[in-house]
Amino acid sequence: MYTQALNTSDGDDRAVEDAARAAEFQARIDQDERIEPNDWMPAAYRKTLTRQISQHAHSEIVGMLPEGNWITRAPSLRRKAALLAKVQDECGHGLYLYAAAETLGTSREELVDAMLAGKAKYSSIFNYPTLTWADIGTIGWLVDGAAIMNQIPLCRCSYGPYARAMIRVCKEESFHQRQGFEIMVTLCRGTAEQKAMAQNALDRWWWPVLMMFGPPDQASQHGDTSTRWKIKRFSNDELRQKFVDATVPQAQFLGLTIPDPGMKQNENGNWEYSPIDWEEFKQVLAGNGPCNRDRLAARRKAHEEGAWVREAAMAYAEKRKSRQLAQAAE
Ligand code: 3HC
Repeated sequence: MYTQALNTSDGDDRAVEDAARAAEFQARIDQDERIEPNDWMPAAYRKTLTRQISQHAHSEIVGMLPEGNWITRAPSLRRKAALLAKVQDECGHGLYLYAAAETLGTSREELVDAMLAGKAKYSSIFNYPTLTWADIGTIGWLVDGAAIMNQIPLCRCSYGPYARAMIRVCKEESFHQRQGFEIMVTLCRGTAEQKAMAQNALDRWWWPVLMMFGPPDQASQHGDTSTRWKIKRFSNDELRQKFVDATVPQAQFLGLTIPDPGMKQNENGNWEYSPIDWEEFKQVLAGNGPCNRDRLAARRKAHEEGAWVREAAMAYAEKRKSRQLAQAAE
């Protein structure tokens, strides 16, 4: 009885201590302090950040696939050079984000293995095909435009390594968005066929891009905690609305029609859009999108074919470490 009582009181003391630390942590967040890797943090904060940052990283790497498909088919050397630079940037974004995720204690290998095993997500938007060159313009214009809308607030995320990674990423995203919009301007000022190709791409990408911001707020399972911990500064619906309001005038400038006949501007100047097909979103997240299988197969193949590079780098690092130890022992 006594031991149990002792354990109980130990247990109570620990619960009181944890509650006090959690309250102190929340006070730091409320004062807009940055949380750094060596700071105490609730396990749930660590877990949700590892989830979000790693999935963000997976998205950057998988996002290279649909665009990489057009590098050899770009219509000019200038377009090819811009697309090459963009795809290379996305790879770098993935590496910054894996590095940020690793500061939370999970290795990059574990994070990548989870994605390859289909246990971790990447953005739904990259499960759609790039059928024409106009898709490359639309991805830069809309997908990177949406990414900027979502990533700018993440520069003020409470977790230091994530926020700092975002600052560099956002600078490069603005080039991505601009080169995409320039492609769309060129096509819309080109032949009737080119303009029709641009409209067709907008028709296919518009709704999947709105889904990219995540489920509606009432269905967002992480939204509340992410907001309370200032990981998210705006809700999914708030960012979606900001994106729509910013993008409709751009489509009007291009002379393109947003594929939503029910869309109308309200008295506040916001563009109200029709209901989103969340069943499609659910299906894509369940692995039943147009390209889910291809994307995962391509990532698994690249990972297998790249094993020798990882092994060689590890062997070199081991050899160098033992040489340094031997020199230190001399
Ligand atoms: N695609 C895939 N999964 C999605 C998703 C999407 N578009 N939107 C939401 N989800 C998932 C969430 O991951 C979560 O599942 P999980 O618990 O298994 O992780 C579930 O749906 C519920 O959604 P929540 O709204 O509760 O989840 P979050 O609070 O994490 O919000 C998010 C979702 C807004 C995407 C948020 O995770 C986020 O801001 N992530 C960082 C930014 C990001 O990943 N951007 C997209 C791709 S990067 C990109 O576009 C690169 C550019 O260079 C092209």
